[in-house]
Amino acid sequence: MLRRVLLAAAASQRVRKLITIAPLTRDVVTRFVAGETAAGALAVAQRLLADGLSVSIDYLGEDTVDPEQAAGVASEYVALLDLLSAAGLTAGGRAEVSVKPTAVGLGLPEHGEKTAAENIVRICRAAKAAGTTVTVDMEDHTRVEATLRLVGELRADFPDLGCVIQSYLRRSPGDCEALAVPGSRVRLCKGAYRAPDGFALAARSEVDRNFARCLRILLDGPGYPMLATHDPRLVAIAKSRAATIGREPSSFEYQMLYGIRTDEQAALAAEGAQVRVYVPYGSDWYAYFMRRLAERPANLMFFLRALASRR
Ligand code: FDA
Repeated sequence: MLRRVLLAAAASQRVRKLITIAPLTRDVVTRFVAGETAAGALAVAQRLLADGLSVSIDYLGEDTVDPEQAAGVASEYVALLDLLSAAGLTAGGRAEVSVKPTAVGLGLPEHGEKTAAENIVRICRAAKAAGTTVTVDMEDHTRVEATLRLVGELRADFPDLGCVIQSYLRRSPGDCEALAVPGSRVRLCKGAYRAPDGFALAARSEVDRNFARCLRILLDGPGYPMLATHDPRLVAIAKSRAATIGREPSSFEYQMLYGIRTDEQAALAAEGAQVRVYVPYGSDWYAYFMRRLAERPANLMFFLRALASRR
């Protein structure tokens, strides 16, 4: 129930206004967001790489409303990749970028898919020049078909373009089967949006079971799985499956969000696993932040306590 309310608030302009103008919100937000500028993201990336982790950096923003804004987002990514490359962080793909399709135009009323594709191509070219990769995030269920189509088409020119599968969707095992092919980079996560019953599994236990099923399809296949979860049970299942089938630690990676279960991130890396941290930055942090609150009631309490202590 609380999750539904928070996810609804994530899409509400009125609540957005209320929360983002409160100056004290910012301190709490920095737990999950690496600052408002590319320089802030760079500093966090340098620190995480020095600790033996990899990063995927996301320039925050979604549901872009005009083509100029969408092109501006792509330009921000190109500049970010130049910055990361100049700092020597992109070699071997240790610092890559994650892009939301609606941030680069997918939701535009006219030519959305074409605009998003052109912008992602610009970002992929910059990533290639920097020696690294791009992963296309997955948004709500209404975007899944177009996003998979877009990534499928762009893979002809950029075979290492990554995509995301969400285990809360009923269709996902089939998508994993289709994507478990040589060279394909697939991030598996539970899914952070609201979706109607026809599309999504309602119970957390079902979502977890579907994750385990998808995880197995991806790990057993010839692609490069990117297992994005903080759930200790699912991490344990992944470890056990990888050991059973003799998958090399270098042939897949775990992914976690910046500021969440940092001890587990370090512990996995110390065991020799590859761990990538998803690092968001930018001033448009509202929807991302609300989704993090929705995932865990304790985060909401942390936020409310911070608000109360400032009064
Ligand atoms: P779950 O929510 O069950 O949490 C398991 C445990 O992890 C919790 O008990 C808690 O200890 C810890 N935890 C989880 N979330 C927390 C939080 N917010 N604060 C504090 N602790 C927390 N989604 C999507 O729809 N599209 C996408 O493209 C992506 N991309 C993505 C990339 C990466 C690298 C990650 C890790 C996640 C995503 N997600 C995503 C988000 C994902 O779908 C999901 O909402 C969150 O990862 C939470 O799910 P868990 O698998 O961690 O399990």
